[in-house]
Amino acid sequence: MPLIAILPGDGIGPEVTAEARRVLDALDLGLDYEEAPVGGAAYFSDGHPLPARTLEVAKRADALLFGAVGDPRCDNLERHLRPEQAILGLRKELELFANLRPARLFPGLEDASALKPEVAGAIDMVIIRELNGDVYFGEKGMRTTASGRREGYDIMSYNEDEVARIARVGFETARVRNKKLCSVDKANVLETSQLWRDVVIEVSAEFPDIELTHMYVDNAAMQLVRNPGQFDVIVTGNLFGDILSDQASMCAGSIGMLPSAALNGSGKGLYEPIHGSAPDIAGQGKANPCATILSAAMLLRYSLGMDAAADRIEAAVTAALVSGARTPDLGGSLTTREMGDAVLKALA
Ligand code: NAI
Ligand code: MG
Repeated sequence: MPLIAILPGDGIGPEVTAEARRVLDALDLGLDYEEAPVGGAAYFSDGHPLPARTLEVAKRADALLFGAVGDPRCDNLERHLRPEQAILGLRKELELFANLRPARLFPGLEDASALKPEVAGAIDMVIIRELNGDVYFGEKGMRTTASGRREGYDIMSYNEDEVARIARVGFETARVRNKKLCSVDKANVLETSQLWRDVVIEVSAEFPDIELTHMYVDNAAMQLVRNPGQFDVIVTGNLFGDILSDQASMCAGSIGMLPSAALNGSGKGLYEPIHGSAPDIAGQGKANPCATILSAAMLLRYSLGMDAAADRIEAAVTAALVSGARTPDLGGSLTTREMGDAVLKALA
C-alpha cells in the first residue's frame, strides 16, 4: 500500500490539507497516510521546525502532501529554528530539485483574473523552478563592515550539473507539451545566469525538436502580464521561479488555485500549493483549498501513476468552479469546508 506523508504545517496549511485529504479519501484508492508536524507547529511541539520523526516519515513515504509553513510568532527565532527552514530542509534532504508549477486559467475564472478575460484565457503554462540551489542555499550572513555598518549577504551560485539537470526537465516537459521552452535568466548582469544560459544551450543539443528561447527575468515579468499566451514551458532558477509563479497565479485567478510538485527524478515527490501559510486569514475558513486539492491530483499522477484518479480530481475542481463555487479570493463567499464539499459533490 503506498504511504502518503501528510505535513499540514501552519496557518491555513491544516485547513487546506484537510480538504485535500477528504477528496483523496472519497476516491478510496487504498492509500496509507501518516501525519507529522512541520514548521512552527513542530517548533512548538518538538522544539524544531523539521523534527527527526517528521524527516523519518518523509523519507519512508512514497509521496508527501504538504500544506504550508510560517508563523509570525516565530519571526524572531534564530534562522535555523524558523518554520520556513523546514520546507528548505525537506527539499534539500530529499533532493527535490525540480519544481513543476502549472498555471492555467480554469473555466469560469476569467472574472477573477487580474488580466483582461481575452488575455487571461490564453494562460496555460508550466513554470519549472529549480529548487536546490541559488541564493536560498548559498552562504548567507550578517556582518559589520570596517566602517561599522551592518551588512547582510546571500551568495547566489549554481554549478553546471545543477543547471543541466533542471534544463533536461524543462526540455522533457516541453517535449510532451508544445515543444517550446523559454529559459528565463538575468544573463546580462549575473554570472550565475551566464552559466545558466550557456549550459541550457549545451543541453539543447540533446533536444533538437524543441524550440528554445531565452528571456531576461524583468522582461518575463512584464510579458507574463502583457501576453501570457506566448509561454508554454518556462525553466528558471529558484529565486526567479518563486517570484514569477506567484505572479502567474494572479494572472490565472488566485494564488489559491496553483498546485505544485517538487520532484527528484525517482518518482518520489513533495506536493504543495504554491502559497504560504496566509496568517492574515488563518483559522477563519476563508482559504481556497483548490491549490492543495490539485496538488493531491499531481501526487497521484506523478508519484503513484494513478492518472485516472488525478483526472477525476481535476475534473471535479473544474466542475465545482463552473457551477459557481467560489471562496472569497475568487470573489465568492464559500468557506474552505464548503469549497471542499463542492468538489466532493462534483466528484460523486
Ligand atoms: P502567502 O502565500 O501565505 O499569502 C499571500 C496572500 O495571499 C495573503 O493575503 C493570503 O491571505 C493570500 N492567500 C494565500 N493562500 C491563499 C488561499 N489558499 N486562499 C486564499 N487566499 C490565500 O504569502 P506571505 O503572506 O508572503 O507569507 C506568509 C507566510 O508563509 C510566511 O511565513 C512565509 O514565509 C510563508 N511561506 C511559506 C511557503 C511554504 O510553506 N512553501 C511559501 C510561501 C510563503
Ligand atoms: Mg513563494
